[in-house]
Amino acid sequence: MAKLNFGGVEENVVTREEFPLSKAQQVLKNETVAVIGYGVQGPGQALNQKDNGINVIVGQRKDSKTWDKAIRDGFVPGETLFEIEEALQKGTIICYLLSDAAQIALWPTVKKHLTPGKALYFSHGFGITFNEQTGIIPPKDVDVFLVAPKGSGTSLRRMFLQGRGLNSSYAIYQDATGKAFDRVIALGIAVGSGYLFETDFKKEVYSDLTGERGTLMGAIQGIFAAQYEVLRAKGHTPSEAFNETVEELTQSLMPLVAENGMDWMYANCSTTAQRGALDWWKKFRDATKPVFNELYESVATGKESQRSIDSNSQPDYREKLEAELKELRESELWQAGKTVRSLRPENQKPPTAESTSSTKEAFRKQALKSESVG
Ligand SMILES: NC(=O)c1ccc[n+]([C@@H]2O[C@H](COP(=O)([O-])OP(=O)(O)OC[C@H]3O[C@@H](n4cnc5c(N)ncnc54)[C@H](OP(=O)(O)O)[C@@H]3O)[C@@H](O)[C@H]2O)c1
Repeated sequence: MAKLNFGGVEENVVTREEFPLSKAQQVLKNETVAVIGYGVQGPGQALNQKDNGINVIVGQRKDSKTWDKAIRDGFVPGETLFEIEEALQKGTIICYLLSDAAQIALWPTVKKHLTPGKALYFSHGFGITFNEQTGIIPPKDVDVFLVAPKGSGTSLRRMFLQGRGLNSSYAIYQDATGKAFDRVIALGIAVGSGYLFETDFKKEVYSDLTGERGTLMGAIQGIFAAQYEVLRAKGHTPSEAFNETVEELTQSLMPLVAENGMDWMYANCSTTAQRGALDWWKKFRDATKPVFNELYESVATGKESQRSIDSNSQPDYREKLEAELKELRESELWQAGKTVRSLRPENQKPPTAESTSSTKEAFRKQALKSESVG
């Protein structure tokens, strides 16, 4: 295993050079990998493994559109596509990729089929880490590990088809056979990971729950809303407030940050933007850090997992969720965003004679916006 230096800290990392696909195929040659669930991660992981020459089958309940999707994707009923229980019986490695709530409900059935020597694979540390809440306690004589791709199943598949890979973390919870390391890394490579970094179940789920509630979605929406509301309250128009809060970030800055880092972005913007961003970032860090600490505590004490289990198991879960999503969707911020997106050149219909001049003006303003910072 390679040790790589991440900003001065050494970490264990497994790369595709070190553990090539041929080695993964060798490790998995006598295994039947049963991917249970064909939601978001299921298709990405199952199709990538199939294309990588792994013996993979899918377990999916039949009375569902998802079953038809698996058929459309090339899985064949009775050969590579089965009802969940039949796939559990056939699989030697069980990739448990149902939604986290469904994993709790189906656990008694899964447990029944975990005979000695099999492996139980997750893509999230949730079920095992919060086992007092989930009841997911595997038998001692099976391997238990995870590979958690750092992105959606859709991106995992898309990047695989482009010949790229998504980074994943991996962790071993139980090594009953002495082969857990080879098995988990082989699976990580086979599902299409770029490189694999080591973690444990608890750290994986704590960081994941913190990230999605924090900068990946919760905090970023909160900061967008706060800035947008201040600009609107001070008399700026919705389009101006939206462009300065979201559009410029997603269209112009973030692709550059993804490519080169925020340090580069700071070094390559206008001097006015640079001065202000240097002056203000620590203030924002200090203001939000207590909230991040509160969030981490809420994750670590199991409050967040309990809330998610409780709310996802309510019979009226879908209706309540829809009401909350509607509030977000119908907010002025995201309605303004819808109009701004429609003005992007790639989303424009061929102009009619009357609309030409106003559209040109909109294009011109849009182009100017995305070329300047501050
Ligand atoms: N979403 C991601 O991109 C992502 C990223 C990293 C890790 N993960 C982890 O990967 C795992 C799978 O997540 P996911 O987002 O792919 O799951 P998902 O899309 O929510 O999973 C849906 C699957 O679960 C099945 N299912 C739901 N309720 C069921 C029930 N009561 N009985 C039987 N089957 C049921 C669905 O079948 P039907 O269609 O028939 O309902 C479908 O096959 C989770 O542990 C998640 O934390 C996900």
